[in-house]
Amino acid sequence: MSSKKEHVNLVIIGHVDAGKSTTTGHLLILTGAITDREMREMEAEAQKLDKSSFKYAFVFDRLKEERERGLTIDLAFRKFETPKFYFTLIDAPGHRDFIKNMITGSSQADAAVLVVSAKKGEFEAGISAGGQTREHAFLARTLGVNQMIVLVNKMDTVDWSQERYNEIKDEITDLLKQVGYPVKDVPFIPGSGWTGDNLKERSSNLKWYDGPTLLEALDNIKLPPKPVDKPFRLPIQDVYSIKGIGTVVVGRVETGKIKKGQQVAILPPGFTSEVRSIEMHYEELPEAIPGDNIGVALRGISHKELKRGMVLSPTDKPASTVEEFTGQIIVIYHPTVVSPGYTPVIHAHTAQQACTFVSIKQKIDPRSGQVSQENPDYIKQGDAAVVEFKPLRPLVLEKYAEIPQLGRFAVRDMGRTIAVGVVKEIKAKEVPLKAGKK
Ligand code: GTP
Ligand code: MG
Repeated sequence: MSSKKEHVNLVIIGHVDAGKSTTTGHLLILTGAITDREMREMEAEAQKLDKSSFKYAFVFDRLKEERERGLTIDLAFRKFETPKFYFTLIDAPGHRDFIKNMITGSSQADAAVLVVSAKKGEFEAGISAGGQTREHAFLARTLGVNQMIVLVNKMDTVDWSQERYNEIKDEITDLLKQVGYPVKDVPFIPGSGWTGDNLKERSSNLKWYDGPTLLEALDNIKLPPKPVDKPFRLPIQDVYSIKGIGTVVVGRVETGKIKKGQQVAILPPGFTSEVRSIEMHYEELPEAIPGDNIGVALRGISHKELKRGMVLSPTDKPASTVEEFTGQIIVIYHPTVVSPGYTPVIHAHTAQQACTFVSIKQKIDPRSGQVSQENPDYIKQGDAAVVEFKPLRPLVLEKYAEIPQLGRFAVRDMGRTIAVGVVKEIKAKEVPLKAGKK
């Protein structure tokens, strides 16, 4: 999609069968992101499997097992546009067996649509102690998805009742407050993913409602401003030595601005260097801003001194090299239990570094967001926790609250993602700055 529009990663969350796939599939048809022909094919396929009510869901549910069972297992990605943005839609599964896929989806998202079924019994099941409505909302919050839209779905099954809508709105408002969402900024939309009411066009069945349609609410999303005023950070993805130019590092500007001629500090080693030139798409630039994927030619330093995972930053506001840090994590997969001493690999921005779980400070109940135990001996799959980590070798990280781009991480071991989390606190090391070897 060759669009100049700003890009938003949008995750669709909610209890199993709330209508996430149906709503989002229908939305893609209404926005023209899916052709009539594709839709007819899916309709035929749904009929063949005796699952006609899943025809829209089949846009996302492409796996054989998903279609036969009528549920989402894996994450599915599709693109669509509104007047202002272009979205990558991530349809997450609601079933609790696949919650790790939902977490992976949310850890990449800027905004979420929480789909809640208004159907009798379904809303109640979703919000109950074992339901995923609360759990998903908490996970999305923990993973830093700050924008939330609530779709009160299946309004066709409750005769478009305003009373039912208000009841659900009140309960979900309480729930979102508990997990820490600023509820006054959260739009609530009554609608139906099945009939399409209030997805794109204003519904004539819901005349009592005067708020935005789902598409309008999506177009109204307020992205945080580009972080140009924050200190400059560029995590290195690749390092090259180019004839006639010298050392070039490649990466994406996460925050701040980098200018030609500027002095930079490269952490963790603490080398200083001068920006000789900046290039993007084979064009030289005087400066680069967040989101730009650039090559930076550096003066006076050998490519042998540099590697992926190091971070370029201004010399007066150098990136933080952490000695220890506190993270809030959610364990999404572990065959046994995780206890202090465990040393998996942490992936943050472009860095990978073995880190030890020094201590587990608190266990948190993902359904309520409350601390359920202080200093537990271990945590296991499904638990949320506050953990003290120690990297075995120097690692650049920032507090999520200050520079979120460098404050999210994944814990990996045995070829799988064990946990995801955000950096709450850091204990930074003083790194003296010095010239690098030429
Ligand atoms: P998982 O991915 O398994 O968590 O489910 P989901 O949230 O994606 O739900 P899905 O879209 O698969 O829909 C589940 C069932 O609810 C299907 O039979 C849909 O046809 C039905 N459904 C979804 N939205 C609506 C709606 O607005 N009204 C009615 N009447 N049925 C709906
Ligand atoms: Mg689904």
